[in-house]
Amino acid sequence: MTHSILLLPGDGIGPEVVSQARRVLEHTAAKHGLSLSLTEGDLGGIAIDRQGAAYPQATRELARQADAILLGAVGGPKWDGLAALERPERGLLAIRADLDLFANLRPAILFPQLASASSLKAELVAGLDILIVRELTGGIYFGEPRGIRIRDDGEREGFNTYVYRESEIKRIATLAFELAAKRDGRLTSVDKANVLEVTMLWREVVDQVAREHPSVALDHLYVDNAAMQLVRAPKQFDVLVTGNIFGDILSDTAAMLTGSIGMLPSASLNEQSRGLYEPVHGSAPDIAGENKANPLATILSVAMMLRYSLNAAAAADDIETAVSRVLDTGLRTSDIADVNGAVVGTVEMGDAVLAALS
Ligand code: IPM
Ligand code: MG
Repeated sequence: MTHSILLLPGDGIGPEVVSQARRVLEHTAAKHGLSLSLTEGDLGGIAIDRQGAAYPQATRELARQADAILLGAVGGPKWDGLAALERPERGLLAIRADLDLFANLRPAILFPQLASASSLKAELVAGLDILIVRELTGGIYFGEPRGIRIRDDGEREGFNTYVYRESEIKRIATLAFELAAKRDGRLTSVDKANVLEVTMLWREVVDQVAREHPSVALDHLYVDNAAMQLVRAPKQFDVLVTGNIFGDILSDTAAMLTGSIGMLPSASLNEQSRGLYEPVHGSAPDIAGENKANPLATILSVAMMLRYSLNAAAAADDIETAVSRVLDTGLRTSDIADVNGAVVGTVEMGDAVLAALS
């Protein structure tokens, strides 16, 4: 059986980190006897430049065929002047919606070697292992109506709609309970049920789903408190489940606890476990093309791909172990470097992971 993998390097540092991740994927596949067919496509700003749309038809066709997709990052100052619906980021939202990738898994795991790179005291983050489960195809990101309109009094106003259907809440909650049951059995649902009706329903539906998962201990937090708790005592959490926009914000916060957003992978899955894998970080245009970006988040995204879409857990473990070994040797890209330590570039970090795999 051959797995078809689509690579979407995207913009900014995307191509640099994806090319290192590609080497790691090919190497690991060969080592573990997996047969892959790799194709590349355009998404984001590069797709706007080459094909006139952030998620062009050609990419859509490739994406629908693929068993799994590896994405770099999209966006950059070059396209900042475009209208909201034409921006590179719309390509990302469009592919998530098109493939119904409703479940975004964002683990925040601290490699012990990087405890000093965290902005929090080492003892607060040592051993940190949190999983954020973010709903990805609904909520205020996709709610209609939306836009910028002119009021009767002539003033302009922007508006978005925050909606969740019961079925959308139920499917993300069910997955979060299943994931929590396989971990430490604790799930925290994050909402703003003291103010927003949409999240009052969220809380009610999560409570209903909880009855089918008695082995998991559920609690609820308001999002403001959750943000505070994440930086106060992050190790209290096991799995967090939340809607699209709160998940966007809390996952960046959680990323920083681990030392660098340059370390964090993510998986976006649909009901068939087909998935799109991408680093949590963005396109970092300020360092693009300079061989400075940390490729480890993308390399770790390949490990998630092997685990969740290709059913190759041993290959995934192999990559994660290799990354850990490389960190043991003291090798660091600039985002995770100690003040006095040596710094390597994107390619050298890729080389080191390949060497550790051999
Ligand atoms: C993310 C990003 C995206 C999001 C942007 C680029 C549209 O911040 O994946 O977290 O908000 O979902
Ligand atoms: Mg984000």
